[in-house]
Amino acid sequence: MSETLFVNAEAEPLAEQDPNWWRQAAVYQIYPRSFADGNGDGIGDLAGIISRVPYLEALGVDAVWLSPFYPSALADGGYDVDDYRDVDPKIGTLEQFDVMTRALHDAGIKLIVDIVPNHSSNRHVWFREALASPKGSPARGRYIFRDGVGPDGTEPPSDWTSIFGGSAWEPVGDGQFYLHLFAPEQPDFNWDNPEVREDFLTTLRFWADRGVDGFRVDVAHGLAKKLTDDPLPTHADLELAEAVRDGAHMLWDRDEVHDIYTQWRAVLNEYDPPRTAVAEAWVHASRRPRYASPDGLGQAFNFDLLQAGFDAAEFRRIIGDNLELAARSGSSTTWVFSNHDVVRHATRYGLPRHAGGDTTASQEWLRQGGNEAVLDRALGLRRARAAILLMLALPGSAYLYQGEELGLHEVADIPDSARQDPTFFRNAGVEIGRDGCRVPLPWTASGPSLGFGDGAPHLPQPAWYADHAVEAQTADGTSTLSLYREALALRRRLQGDEELAWIDSGDPRVLHFRRPGGWHSVTNFGSAPIPLPAGSVVISSAPLTEQQLPGNATAWLVE
Ligand code: NOJ
Ligand code: CA
Repeated sequence: MSETLFVNAEAEPLAEQDPNWWRQAAVYQIYPRSFADGNGDGIGDLAGIISRVPYLEALGVDAVWLSPFYPSALADGGYDVDDYRDVDPKIGTLEQFDVMTRALHDAGIKLIVDIVPNHSSNRHVWFREALASPKGSPARGRYIFRDGVGPDGTEPPSDWTSIFGGSAWEPVGDGQFYLHLFAPEQPDFNWDNPEVREDFLTTLRFWADRGVDGFRVDVAHGLAKKLTDDPLPTHADLELAEAVRDGAHMLWDRDEVHDIYTQWRAVLNEYDPPRTAVAEAWVHASRRPRYASPDGLGQAFNFDLLQAGFDAAEFRRIIGDNLELAARSGSSTTWVFSNHDVVRHATRYGLPRHAGGDTTASQEWLRQGGNEAVLDRALGLRRARAAILLMLALPGSAYLYQGEELGLHEVADIPDSARQDPTFFRNAGVEIGRDGCRVPLPWTASGPSLGFGDGAPHLPQPAWYADHAVEAQTADGTSTLSLYREALALRRRLQGDEELAWIDSGDPRVLHFRRPGGWHSVTNFGSAPIPLPAGSVVISSAPLTEQQLPGNATAWLVE
């Protein structure tokens, strides 16, 4: 990086009891089984996280979002929860959870945990009880059981397919089937059941009492369901209803789901400061504000940037729309390029736009074998660096996914025998799945599992991972890790009110906006250099060339 970098950036942690700490927080997502392995068994764990708190502190994030760490057989990476109020013994203990929370808090970092209310695992005590109990029993009433259909009642209640492929109904051997919108190991709860509702309030309190600052709510739009009496609609009919999604769809985004979150909000507000929650809600943009409202969960993800290509017009539209939606909800918005479910954005941006510049098309690229000849790794990373500076200059919360600060690409060539994602197995040969963004992080350039731990990692690391190791990047002022550290520290200093004013550069390839206090961000989405606006450059994603901003780059300036 050039001398234009602003280096004297002492990070000031956010004030501890500020109830609005989340509104413009930089939140770092940890996928615990792939972050750091403290005991050498190849699986990332809480001891590993505890040992890396200084890394997170130096990175300068305001909060950590911890993906599921609960007891789980890992049929879906931990999103199949056996017990909502415990830690998976494979990765730690409740005592270690408390040590981790304290260590994060001492470092000025908040903790958001994932909560998975749409379904439990099939090993949850309630589901075992349901299986052991007869048809019509209260134990079955906590899940969604139906009789089979057809002449001898052996056919599933409908032809619905699960999101991971295959039937959404699993027979239990006595003529009944249960609904699972995801894997068969993930039976859907019946949220009309008061016991289910009560139990999740107990879970929220359990973690909030332990000092957790917020919750990320998995499949938040799926809890309220209303299945008709027989016959159920066909899958095709349901798909048609998808387009409408006006609050009355049988499975998704029903209006009644908000009654659940009103109850949750009351519990979250029992705490000081109130606990936060962010909805993973795949809903039409116009219906997002309800999830994000202060009477509801309080914030909602938008996955618009994550689904977009690296394109000035698309970014501008998405940013404008989401700032408006956030204002309508009374919340702040969220931004995210990568998470544990999508092809890493350095890779997406290195693929030709229609061959893979967005998440759907990049899955297609994976499906076709992840052809290296199609991927421009350097361009992808260059754009990812430009994009993150743009994102970190926006009002709202920025969600970062572990490893993106190292400029990691997707691992496309995991052998089939090593794959873990249920989408791969249930849709063999069609869906490649999400393992390629879940490969354990490289901390050192050599050694077993590149410093992840002392044993072989649970997913194999490719040779090129060594080039991205934390160790190598820490000492290199031009590395992507250094860019993230400097940008996060600067963001803390420059961040003010949640306002943004566009500045028209007259060039459709350029996005330029100003934040209160005279903080500017300029991104050149084109490939030819452009003149920089007035101001002092404090950081840039690529070296400037004679006071020009090169292509695929962002600079921040102050007046
Ligand atoms: C969304 C999570 O992000 C994903 O990883 C998981 O497979 C599904 N929800 C089901 O829980
Ligand atoms: Ca371990």
